[in-house]
Amino acid sequence: MIKREKIKSLLETTDFNREVTVMGWVRTFRNNQFIAINDGSCMGNIQIVVDFENTAEELLKRITTGAAIAVTGQLVESLGKGQRVDVKAVSIEILGDSDAEKFPLQPKKHSLEFLREIAHLRFRTNTFNAVFKVRHALAFAIHQFYNERGFVYMHTPVITASDAEGAGEMFKVTTLDFDQTPRTEDGKVDFSEDFFGRATNLTVSGQLEGELAAMAFGQIYTFGPTFRAENSNTTRHLAEFWMVEPEFAFADLEDNMQLAEDMMKYIITYALDNCKEEIEFLNNRLLEDEKTKPQQERSELSLIEKLNFCINNEFVRLTYTEAIAILRSSKPNQKKQFKYLINEWGADLQSEHERFLVEKHFKKPVILTDYPADIKAFYMRQNEPDAEGRRTVAAMDVLFPGIGEMIGGAQREERMDKLTQRMDEMNISQEELWWYLDTRRFGSAKHAGFGLGFERLVLFVTGMTNIRDVIAFPRFPKNAEF
Ligand code: 4AD
Ligand code: MG
Repeated sequence: MIKREKIKSLLETTDFNREVTVMGWVRTFRNNQFIAINDGSCMGNIQIVVDFENTAEELLKRITTGAAIAVTGQLVESLGKGQRVDVKAVSIEILGDSDAEKFPLQPKKHSLEFLREIAHLRFRTNTFNAVFKVRHALAFAIHQFYNERGFVYMHTPVITASDAEGAGEMFKVTTLDFDQTPRTEDGKVDFSEDFFGRATNLTVSGQLEGELAAMAFGQIYTFGPTFRAENSNTTRHLAEFWMVEPEFAFADLEDNMQLAEDMMKYIITYALDNCKEEIEFLNNRLLEDEKTKPQQERSELSLIEKLNFCINNEFVRLTYTEAIAILRSSKPNQKKQFKYLINEWGADLQSEHERFLVEKHFKKPVILTDYPADIKAFYMRQNEPDAEGRRTVAAMDVLFPGIGEMIGGAQREERMDKLTQRMDEMNISQEELWWYLDTRRFGSAKHAGFGLGFERLVLFVTGMTNIRDVIAFPRFPKNAEF
């Protein structure tokens, strides 16, 4: 057994003048005398005071930035400024050397772009320590939220033969030999020879399988990786991202909106309560960052203010039709500042429009509902056509400041005839989705659900600006390193 104490607890203790053993990675070593080491348990380092006159030169040389060391010594109240405790080293052992010349993380500020290139080491910085602690807390809070409400956690498959969103942006899964693909008589790839005997792909969403489970357990959620082969090189898109998808029976769009709002408030509150140190650090990091920007580009609220604002205010709820009216008469539309001008009902909303609504117009999270049927997925519940005969569906998108779309969801079409009619219109095979349709055949009921993009949530709560910095090893076009 290896005995060691975590730096986090030593930095908090008042139980001084006892022998402790700490292990961690060297952040800095000053004057052959003071080692700052970090073990990841918190952002703070503990200071080791070295009796350098009585320490072998050879050993001192090996105490370099990045090296893993074990120190045993006396825990004492610190005399120096900026820390409460020191460890007066009695013995120092090098666990793993680190060549200071080659170690890429120097004790100075590195750009996020540079750190992305060394994503395998960036966890050792304070910023990424904070980001991934917050990420952990958010994941934990999500499980706690659903567990408290009696939702069953379902693990839906990662490999599937269906395209839940009908958007066709999928990664294929195959074991076929690309140099000798079996072909059918008409020259197409013969997937009957493939591992699963059919074409398969990585899931874009666990929703369809989630619906099956909801129609038995009443309420479920999934929380797993999803994959999109969209060629989006933005600060909001990943090819592999994690999604939280609750699905619940005997529920309509109102219930769905309420669940989404309750969930967001619950998990943000949890993070604020449980990641104080990390969020304060990120808050200050952002303030520093803002100082380098021109006045009008600075945000009105600090990170912590923004998070509190979200918790303490009701989300705005409005329909797509109302949003279009606002956007159409908005300044950026009139002055032709939008890249995509809003001219008519039916236009899909772009991120610039979503952000105008939340950041400029309402300055609050917004839940947009009842989108045109033509821009949404086949499974969404069809509303009665409006007075002008326009067809909408009971969809909802939750939009957040600085993020845009955080959540997408809907009340589902539970009526068999309406569902199959829509599938036919959209060329979605009823035969392939026989199992999905069975839920409508056998005990169909109103139900609803949504998908929360987990990394977008982490972005919002950490105040980071690029989604590639809130997932450990981001996957995006032309990048699958690590
Ligand atoms: O709006 P989306 O595509 O909805 C669905 O997949 C539904 N089946 C969810 C459901 O109703 N159960 O995706 C849901 C959320 C988006 O709102 C967004 O936050 C996130 O997933 N998302 C992405 N996040 C990162 N990178 C991408 N490429 C994303 N695509 C969607
Ligand atoms: Mg969406």
